[in-house]
Amino acid sequence: MDEELFAAVDAFVCETVVGEDEALRRAIAAAEEAGLPSIQVSPPQGKLLQLLVRLVGARRILEFGTLGGYSAILMARALPENGRLISLEANAEYAEVARASIEKAGVGEKVEVRVGPALEALPALEEEDAKPFDLVFIDADKVNTPNYFSWALDRTRPGGLIIADNVVRDGTLADGDAADEATQAQRRLHQMLADEPRVSATTVQTVGVKGYDGFLLALVEPA
Ligand code: SAH
Ligand code: DHB
Ligand code: MG
Repeated sequence: MDEELFAAVDAFVCETVVGEDEALRRAIAAAEEAGLPSIQVSPPQGKLLQLLVRLVGARRILEFGTLGGYSAILMARALPENGRLISLEANAEYAEVARASIEKAGVGEKVEVRVGPALEALPALEEEDAKPFDLVFIDADKVNTPNYFSWALDRTRPGGLIIADNVVRDGTLADGDAADEATQAQRRLHQMLADEPRVSATTVQTVGVKGYDGFLLALVEPA
């Protein structure tokens, strides 16, 4: 593994195809200043999220795990005028930092951050007309990724996309004896999808500034 090389390639990709962005740099700086962990998606990964939002033609997005709002800002910017993104965040201080950065980035009208453990936010969401979702980004507490996925699958339209971050976990995904509960949860998610006719899925391994990880992409099939 060559972390320096991965970071250098990410930097080159940023300087060239991804492009720089002042509002996003400010969001990162605000998160850092407030002491939030620097675990947001990398800029190239964030750009991929934007492309996926556009490819799906998403209008309603649900995000699990807001942190400082970095991925939320990126996805919200790719939404059409009438698009909406709801982001669930357990940590009230993180949510405050995120709301401020989202506002400053000019997408405050499109994004709503809800505070509380995501599982507790789901019953209220069920009652609203926020569904069905066109795209769901699962990036909160990793042990619950299979639970969030199951919930999202019933509430994402055919042709919609569910993305789960951090499923490869330094390659421990392949280790059935892995002690890490978060890894076991990603293995369960994959095994669950092995006989789930409602989605067509794949997992992409990634290296970059965040090391070795990967994300799962699941396209919801027509009924
Ligand atoms: N999507 C963000 C990064 C999210 S990091 C980005 O790329 O910019 C994971 C986030 O999930 C953290 O902010 C953490 O506080 C939050 N989280 C952890 N457990 C959670 C839970 N049970 N419900 C909702 N959010 C949770
Ligand atoms: C962590 C969370 C993430 O969503 C991520 O992409 C990387 C790390 C974490 O909780 O450590
Ligand atoms: Mg993540």
